[in-house]
Amino acid sequence: MTGAAPRGAGPTREPDALDLGLPDPVRAPGLPEEVRIHEVGPRDGLQNEGSLVPVEVKAEFIDRLAAAGLRTVEATSFVHPKWVPQLADAEELMPRLADLPDRHPGLRLPVLVPNERGLDRALAHHATDVAVFASATETFARRNLNRSADGAMAMFRPVVERATAAGVPVRGYLSMCFGDPWEGPVPVAQVVGLGVRLLEMGCAELSLGDTIGVATPGQVTALLDGFAAAGVPVGRLAVHFHDTYGQALSNTLTALRAGVTVVDASAGGLGGCPYAKSATGNLATEDLVWMLHGLGIRTGVDLRALVATSGWMARRLGRPSPSRTVQALLGATAAGAPD
Ligand code: HMG
Ligand code: MG
Repeated sequence: MTGAAPRGAGPTREPDALDLGLPDPVRAPGLPEEVRIHEVGPRDGLQNEGSLVPVEVKAEFIDRLAAAGLRTVEATSFVHPKWVPQLADAEELMPRLADLPDRHPGLRLPVLVPNERGLDRALAHHATDVAVFASATETFARRNLNRSADGAMAMFRPVVERATAAGVPVRGYLSMCFGDPWEGPVPVAQVVGLGVRLLEMGCAELSLGDTIGVATPGQVTALLDGFAAAGVPVGRLAVHFHDTYGQALSNTLTALRAGVTVVDASAGGLGGCPYAKSATGNLATEDLVWMLHGLGIRTGVDLRALVATSGWMARRLGRPSPSRTVQALLGATAAGAPD
């Protein structure tokens, strides 16, 4: 799945860890056999980029991610173009992705929609999966959606109803589940209450967002226990950790031990939310895959191809990937070297 023999032709290079068959898979008790990675690089990863990434680069990025074996790749957002200028090209991007599901069977390309206007745009471009994004705190709801938390829920209801009726599954995101840059700690009961409302509204899956990356494993356990106590099956939950304080991987392992099998991550560790101060990149998909494969957990991802993709993207963005795995496998060539 991950190891590839050193290439015979061309300039010789030292065998790297993957060539040597590392990580050496060893199963650990209480973990799933398979994890579905919800790749958010093209959306969460790019939405905060200051300089506009050309639409053809975005399309190639998504194609490369799919070719590396990722089967859920969040493609873009149909939000107000002034709120997220980087993704204002969603209408141009979607036609460029039209043949990807044929070329990569099983590929899903979800898009974010905040309201009915966003849903209309997404459906006009044949989106097959959409996501709404709520906030566990009032301040972030207002800053990100220009609504109260309740007002945002009212905005999402017709989106979820119409999408579901059209056969389009809806993911619900809940941001600031573990801490908020304006309000501080967020009570578990508050998060569970809003999360349950999204699920009862008809969201098929609920992704619990640590938007500013402040969570630690005890909090993750407490929140998942809170959802279990509210009767929410763990199979409907996903986790979405930003890595600001280096906790994303520990938090993910904690969630896996609690039964979560859907993990959000961003190729190369790109990312951040333009409306949340101190939000940095997501958990890097490569670092996640390294750990999962080391634990003998199937992902379907070819780590070599994924790392090459993040190196390619780093060169387009003009800076090295923050992913430790990308850095370890590509070294100084992660940015600046020719393709
Ligand atoms: P608003 O200004 O309150 O919008 O923004 P409005 O409903 O008052 O409408 C104003 C105008 O915008 C109208 O046009 C609408 O048609 C238009 P006018 O009549 O004046 O000509 N409009 C739109 N145009 C295009 N597409 C649309 C759309 N909606 C309205 N969808 C709104 C409210 C929700 C639109 C705005 O706040 C917005 O777009 N917010 C998006 C912010 C965002 O994308 N943030 C990043 C994603 S969330 C995230 O990253 C967190 C996550 O990763 C999880 C985690 O880490 O925790 C998911
Ligand atoms: Mg995010």
